[in-house]
Amino acid sequence: MKSKLILLVSLLLVANQSYAVEKGRWYSDRQVENGERLFRENCAACHGQNAEATSDWKKTDANGNYPPPPLNGTAHAWHHDLDLLRRTIREGGARLGGQMPGFEGRLNAEEIDSVIAFFQSKWPDDIYQRWDGRNQASDLPSLSDIVVAAKKPLTRLLRQRIGNAKIDDVQETSIENVWQVQIGNQYVYLLDDGKFALMGDLVDLENGRNLTEQSRRVDTVETISEFADNDLIIFAAKGESKATLNVFTDTSCPYCQKLHSEIDKLQEAGITVRYLPYARGGKSGPGYETLKSVWCAEDRNGAMTDAKNNRFEGLPPGDCAQAAIIDRGYRAGNRVGIRGTPALVKNNGEKIEGYVPYRELIPQLLQSTSQ
Ligand code: HEC
Repeated sequence: MKSKLILLVSLLLVANQSYAVEKGRWYSDRQVENGERLFRENCAACHGQNAEATSDWKKTDANGNYPPPPLNGTAHAWHHDLDLLRRTIREGGARLGGQMPGFEGRLNAEEIDSVIAFFQSKWPDDIYQRWDGRNQASDLPSLSDIVVAAKKPLTRLLRQRIGNAKIDDVQETSIENVWQVQIGNQYVYLLDDGKFALMGDLVDLENGRNLTEQSRRVDTVETISEFADNDLIIFAAKGESKATLNVFTDTSCPYCQKLHSEIDKLQEAGITVRYLPYARGGKSGPGYETLKSVWCAEDRNGAMTDAKNNRFEGLPPGDCAQAAIIDRGYRAGNRVGIRGTPALVKNNGEKIEGYVPYRELIPQLLQSTSQ
């Protein structure tokens, strides 16, 4: 009886695996096989034999670093399109202040694809389809239905109040029976099996950590990492890059212009500035059309500087494919909860709202990288 059961279970597992690969996925069984070997050799030490580690991937260690996240579909790897996954493996996490080593020179392009095939073969169909769909829609995904489906009774009353679509993520906290629910850039805590919701930041008094802020930062880093360098306008550090600053900017905002007039000071101090577009007021805002033009320019850095100095004559029409980034930037800015421009975001996801003079800003940025 017992052996029959085991047989049945293993048959189901086998059936399930080949089913997954058959169902219109981009990779072949062979790639999964090769990828498994390469993954075990190169990645498993950190990400686990079956890409399942680390289950507590949203908690930072004592140094404020994030652990390797699971790649088996239970974390956020599915937020990244194939190119970004390839790039993360090639270049590692350093560009976002992370710990993941880069594999450039150790794995070739074919091998990297096989490794991705292997961990994607662990993704359930609904996650895979969502990933596939998100690449086509190039829109920010919502985790709502996956997680909420799993925790329906817990969020039943909350969903009645605010609707299903608003809930992005539900996760356990380290307090028994207290759940953290993400609603856009807000977090609430569910108590008493979801009968009560408490709004406010959760602080661990033993070590003084603001746990809600940590979640916010993880989400911010993830949201920003959706943008490839090519999507952004980057003013690179002069010489060695010591820190990176992400800036949500609007060409029409006076303090964005002021910050931009000091950008060479930041660059000279070893700071790379990555501009994301954020049109205040959205499509009808004063900077929306100009931002599109800037993003469509051949020399985008020059166009950004021109627009920030109210020189509009040389700007091209904003009707190219890149112009779509203006809407993406707006959604991303709202997602991370910026309240105005410029909004400065450090590599660890920490936000600084508004303009800060370069003399104050530079030490703040350099200090946070050396901690
Ligand atoms: C030394 C530990 C270590 C090794 C080895 C390692 N990683 Fe990572 N990986 C990390 C950490 C830590 C992160 C979290 C981001 C960061 O800090 O860079 C990460 C993040 C990732 C991400 C991004 C996931 C997400 O959801 O954003 C992918 C994809 C990834 N790793 C794939 C791989 C693959 C494939 C290999 C093997 C070729 C590998 N990693 C080897 C530590 C490691």
